[in-house]
Amino acid sequence: MTGYNPADEGAQMSFAKDMSYTDYLSLDPILGAQNCKSDAHDEMLFIIQHQTSELWMRLCLHELSSARTHLAQGDFAPAMKMLARVARIFEQLNSAWDVLRTMTPSEYTDFRDDLGASSGFQSHQYRLIEFILGNRNRAMMKVHEHRPELHHMLTQELDTKSLYHVALDLLAEATGQSFDTHVYALDTPHAADDAVMQAWVTVYKDPRAHWQLYELAEKLVDLEDYFRRWRFNHVTTVERIIGFKRGTGGTSGVKYLRRMLEVELFPELWNLRGAL
Ligand code: HEM
Repeated sequence: MTGYNPADEGAQMSFAKDMSYTDYLSLDPILGAQNCKSDAHDEMLFIIQHQTSELWMRLCLHELSSARTHLAQGDFAPAMKMLARVARIFEQLNSAWDVLRTMTPSEYTDFRDDLGASSGFQSHQYRLIEFILGNRNRAMMKVHEHRPELHHMLTQELDTKSLYHVALDLLAEATGQSFDTHVYALDTPHAADDAVMQAWVTVYKDPRAHWQLYELAEKLVDLEDYFRRWRFNHVTTVERIIGFKRGTGGTSGVKYLRRMLEVELFPELWNLRGAL
């Protein structure tokens, strides 16, 4: 390779006037945003792990809201692709815990006090993902009151049908059913409903007759499967690093996160399996 010059084969080497890779990707603000508050070596890992997770969550939201729009128009094919991508993003986020797990409790203790009361609990993007999928709780909005634009985004999401509601509209139409209004409650977590489950059972008993819904249902199960693994990996990593101490966000920590393991986004899709 000595003496090799990529310019000889046409690589553009001067960007005084053109947009470069660094410009296009806005790398200066991104790579300049790791503002460690301490001298602890591992704080950089902690910050980057959260920032990269937030970037992937941004993509998740982009895909989920677009998938919802397509489904609302009965346009299944692009929505399937987007939902498959979201499951893969969660897979990516799940693998990322392996990096964070290299941090020991002693290393985290070196900078934990510098986080103050900040915690993933205040991640507005995570909350938006939960809201869009149907796990809705107005009480979670309080921590965003000091940021009106974020609070507004969450309020707007709570005023919109969840992705699961849109799937249920399609299910109702295809099976000739109509579901109770409580099924479509906008600001409470979706609770299992027997009529909804029976309609899904109809789909699963004859997949060929309802192929698109069958495929959609399995995509949703796939997504929830990966999401559950994320929650589980998170709580296990947290226990490994802080044991049963309270979280920086003020909750009971592992105890709170274990309660979140009980969340069911699409309960009927899980319950129907025992009914087939
Ligand atoms: C050393 C690593 C970590 C520890 C010790 C930790 C600890 C905690 C604790 C104790 C909570 C409960 C709320 C509280 O009281 O603070 C929590 C919530 C949360 N954390 Fe982490 N966490 C870690 C890493 C991460 C990472 C890398 C992410 C990725 C973005 C993340 C995202 C979240 C989210 C979204 C919640 C809210 C969960 C919910 O409300 O269901 N955490 N974390």
